Amino acid sequence: MFIRNAWYIAAWANEVGQAPLARTILNETLVLFRDKAGKLGALEDRCCHRGTPLRFGEVVDGGLRCGYHGLVFDGSGSCVSIPGQVKIPSKACVRSYPLVEKDEFVWIWMGDPNDADSSKILNYPFHNDHAKWPHKHERYHIKASYKLMIDNLMDMTHLAYVHKKTIGGNPKIHVNAQMAVTPNENGLHYLRWMLDCDPPPTYQKAVTFKGKVDRWQEFEFIAPSSIVQWSGALDVGLSAQENRNQDGGFSLRLFHGLTPETESSCHYFWSTANGYRQDEPEATEQLFSEISTAFMEDKEIVQGQQAMLSATGEDRLVDIVSDAARIHMRRTLERLQRAEKPAPPG
Ligand code: FES
Ligand SMILES: [Fe+2]
Repeated sequence: MFIRNAWYIAAWANEVGQAPLARTILNETLVLFRDKAGKLGALEDRCCHRGTPLRFGEVVDGGLRCGYHGLVFDGSGSCVSIPGQVKIPSKACVRSYPLVEKDEFVWIWMGDPNDADSSKILNYPFHNDHAKWPHKHERYHIKASYKLMIDNLMDMTHLAYVHKKTIGGNPKIHVNAQMAVTPNENGLHYLRWMLDCDPPPTYQKAVTFKGKVDRWQEFEFIAPSSIVQWSGALDVGLSAQENRNQDGGFSLRLFHGLTPETESSCHYFWSTANGYRQDEPEATEQLFSEISTAFMEDKEIVQGQQAMLSATGEDRLVDIVSDAARIHMRRTLERLQRAEKPAPPG
């Protein structure tokens, strides 16, 4: 079961060009494309003539042309041309999905199109501020439920064990972190502080610290599938808890978008932006490389978890103190799932 009435990330904007891009989202296979005017379209990947996937087609004047017998569909899914035929049957159409291109993302609405309110899409202004937040992005295909991937981001104690060589740190520091979880209407917010601790390897490669640091991790979960993160560290003595926004420390912004592909797989859209050495492209590259490594570590462990849970079931699991944010997150998803309307016919 999926939460359909929500905006999900379908693609990075620069992934979608005139070549049709097939992607499965919430168990539905779609084809994304840009028409000749640059306008995005998302259609069911199934031609209404003989069921051929539209991914085999090409963009022509008027829209996407099926690669089998040449029917052309516009971005609304209407057939606008049939070779050798003037009259177009009224049933000649395919399902289309509302799309919004914003902040380098392509957002898609998988529920009732009448409820697609683009004002509900979150803002991520950092993608538009290349001077202050130079960034790079990526998509990982994950063979695990999007919920398990969000679980992973709700419990940072895993850093000490999964990410020893990158963004981790001493396990004791993580277990003893100050943690404040605040549920809100759209999900939850949490803020962790690890005071007077050693900076982890990724931080040390990025900036020069005098010694111990005060380190924070701030997360906002926006249901059902977005997580906005601001993490960093300043030298001890700079009153980081009163003012984190200071030059000279380490600071990064991460965006995590987990879009369900199937019940047990998802697309992980993530970006990383460095809030230091902004005029050094190699700093952006280095951070991206470090975070790529760390997220591959997450991918491996969560895929292993999914395989085991698929084989053995999800009962016989025990909650511990560090699950607080994860539990709030799951409750939010359950609330949204209960509020779902049935999918529109066709
Ligand atoms: S199957 Fe698409 S035009 Fe025939
Ligand atoms: Fe992780």
